[in-house]
Amino acid sequence: MSTLHVIDHPMIQHKLTIMRKKETGSKDFRELLQEIALLMGYEITRDLPLEDIPIETPICKMTAKRITGRKLAVVPILRAGLGMVDGIRTLVPVAKVGHIGLYRNEETHEPVVYYCKLPEDVQKRLVIVTDPMLATGGSACDAIAMLKERGCNNIRLMCLVGAPEGIARVQKEHPDVDIYLAAVDERLNENAYIVPGLGDAGDRIFGTK
Ligand code: PRP
Ligand code: URA
Repeated sequence: MSTLHVIDHPMIQHKLTIMRKKETGSKDFRELLQEIALLMGYEITRDLPLEDIPIETPICKMTAKRITGRKLAVVPILRAGLGMVDGIRTLVPVAKVGHIGLYRNEETHEPVVYYCKLPEDVQKRLVIVTDPMLATGGSACDAIAMLKERGCNNIRLMCLVGAPEGIARVQKEHPDVDIYLAAVDERLNENAYIVPGLGDAGDRIFGTK
């Protein structure tokens, strides 16, 4: 069973509250999402392995630490996942970025694939899939399955708000993928929107409604 990490740092909770408010505009929403992604990125990379390397400071020689092991790839689920990429890349500027385009069919709520472009060596990387909303879990599960078809075996899912239904679905379909969230909300409504949630993340980021 994958581990659910709820990153409930006060800075993240405070920023998330502002994002949830219906009067928060697109500019603030976008900026807060990037800031939270950076803060969550700090936690999601907490267990990266380190190695010792010899360096020289202006004072003396020493043995210092450097991150080793797999390089990173960030894979946003379009559109809303794009809003978390720059935050993670502020922490890890060399991370490569892939894109998976999915939208939810408004009636069935099932995801439909329309785009996939991944780094050539994605299967060798630690992949962080980003999407602010984990509702039914259909989009996240399909994106993870597409990555696994391309040989990825080290995947983490980073969302902002999750519904119990989506968390359970990812844990059932992809028990090897750890989930990182800022909040677990109550439930889904009849339109498969997260309650209380924050509305349609893509529309709020890009100002489309
Ligand atoms: C939203 C959201 C997720 C998905 C979550 O995307 O960004 O990708 O829905 O729902 P699920 O867990 O039930 O699959 P949407 O389909 O609205 O597309 P958009 O990001 O382009 O607005
Ligand atoms: N997608 C969103 O953007 N918000 C939800 O609450 C559910 C799916």
